[in-house]
Amino acid sequence: MRKKITASIIGTGSYLPAKVLTNKDLESMVDTSDEWITTRTGIKERHIAGDDEYTSDMAAKAAMQALQSAGKKPSSIDLIIVATITPDMLFPSTACFVQDKIGAKNAACFDIGAACSGYIYAIEIAKRLVETGSHNTILVIAAEKLSAITDWTDRNTCVLFGDGAGACVISGEESGKPRILCTYTGADSSAAELLMMPGGGTRFPASMQTVEKKLHFLKMAGREVFKNAVLSMYRAAERIMKKSDIKIDEIKCFLPHQANIRIIDAVAKKIGISKEKVYLNVQKFGNMSAATVAVGLDEVFKDWDLKPGDKILVDAFGAGFTFGSLVIEW
Ligand code: COA
Repeated sequence: MRKKITASIIGTGSYLPAKVLTNKDLESMVDTSDEWITTRTGIKERHIAGDDEYTSDMAAKAAMQALQSAGKKPSSIDLIIVATITPDMLFPSTACFVQDKIGAKNAACFDIGAACSGYIYAIEIAKRLVETGSHNTILVIAAEKLSAITDWTDRNTCVLFGDGAGACVISGEESGKPRILCTYTGADSSAAELLMMPGGGTRFPASMQTVEKKLHFLKMAGREVFKNAVLSMYRAAERIMKKSDIKIDEIKCFLPHQANIRIIDAVAKKIGISKEKVYLNVQKFGNMSAATVAVGLDEVFKDWDLKPGDKILVDAFGAGFTFGSLVIEW
């Protein structure tokens, strides 16, 4: 009989484009202020990809770093999953472009669309595939070029988002490597219209009218999304604590999706986790959708003072609304 294995994260990586856009820069673009953005969101700056820098370029750079930290060659990867809402094109998948860029010629490739929860959804899929033995080594990437779907004249949204990519390599249990103990994913699509990009799909294919009506930009009802974010992230945290039979006091690091510092504070308070356990990068990167917790996990693995047995709770929420959580043991 096959030995039961628990999938491990054997390497991580991340990439942020070079250009930094500060709140001060935004003051000269729309009617806003550093003070408003900082107090309402916690964001100070965000990274913006170059015009000729695509989602797959950022994804490939994060992926190469993850492969290097895992000590794996691109040819050893048998599946690439990219979580993104800003693919290079509707098809082929961004994962296919990444395969070519990194030379992972033995990999199958697909993208998933679960918005900001995408990395958690992708990790859940990878964990199951590795644990059933159907795949050995999976590259999971979250990459976003949100600047390409941002209306830079809309102060309600343009101050919130940034570009970037994070990646990890998931494989069968390897001693001394962080194990993915438990995953949880869910969705409540009853208010999906609160956060969407309407144009470019089959409902509103690209036309002069869709461009005039700005349907190819992200649209959001901020205040309503805020309430949904707090409830959904609380729900995802609570469900995984029950599912894994782990108590919140056992969590050493809480890595939430970073859309707004006030959402993070409210969720941490609701689940009863103290401030010093909360990992924050929203001030540096803004909201990078699926890439947010991917970059965050790479930073936590590299910078957080973790000891064997320490547990990390990852929690995200996104358009749909989707939500999900992970418990990882260091
Ligand atoms: N600068 C200055 N003023 C701004 C502004 C900006 N960048 N953006 C909005 N405002 C104004 C609004 O026009 C409004 O003015 P009014 O009262 O005259 O109409 C006022 O600020 C307050 O707007 P409101 O929407 O109530 O602010 P808020 O406290 O809810 O903060 C968000 C707005 C978007 C920061 C907040 O709602 C939020 O973070 N929502 C969730 C976003 C999110 O999580 N998205 C992704 C999910 S994955």
